[in-house]
Amino acid sequence: MRRILTYGTYDLLHNGHIRLLKRAKARGDYLIVALSTDEFNKIKGKKSYYGYEKRKEMLEALRFVDLVIPENSWEQKVDDIKKYEVDEVVMGSDWKDSDKFEYLKEYCDVVYLDRTEGISTTKVKNDLSKKVMS
Ligand code: CTP
Repeated sequence: MRRILTYGTYDLLHNGHIRLLKRAKARGDYLIVALSTDEFNKIKGKKSYYGYEKRKEMLEALRFVDLVIPENSWEQKVDDIKKYEVDEVVMGSDWKDSDKFEYLKEYCDVVYLDRTEGISTTKVKNDLSKKVMS
């Protein structure tokens, strides 16, 4: 049983999110999503449209997501990896140039997957406010 873990806010679920999660699950047997809480989003300077419980409900409805846990802090990752016996942490390529996840290589594999071009929650919000359709 290979266990994969990924982190994120996943607000206004879109095809970039779906593709990331699908590819993450395909790398193992069990996919855990650590979903940023509303409080942690504040720390990250983000404000989501949907609150934590609704974002969690939507992720749990996806067949390739096995478990959703809360992401409350930057520091919890090593504890998560140990607690859930994680083999691989998967992140979008937006994190590739930061060293935020590199130290985790001591505990498990760390893999970056390419982002899907042309879509983000920020873009959806901006487009809707300008009445631009995709
Ligand atoms: N992601 C992706 N392709 C996209 C958008 C997001 O692969 N086009 C991935 C991110 O790399 C991350 C996960 O989906 O691993 C969750 O990203 P999140 O930050 O919640 O979504 P964004 O759409 O990037 O949100 P925002 O615009 O608020 O930054």
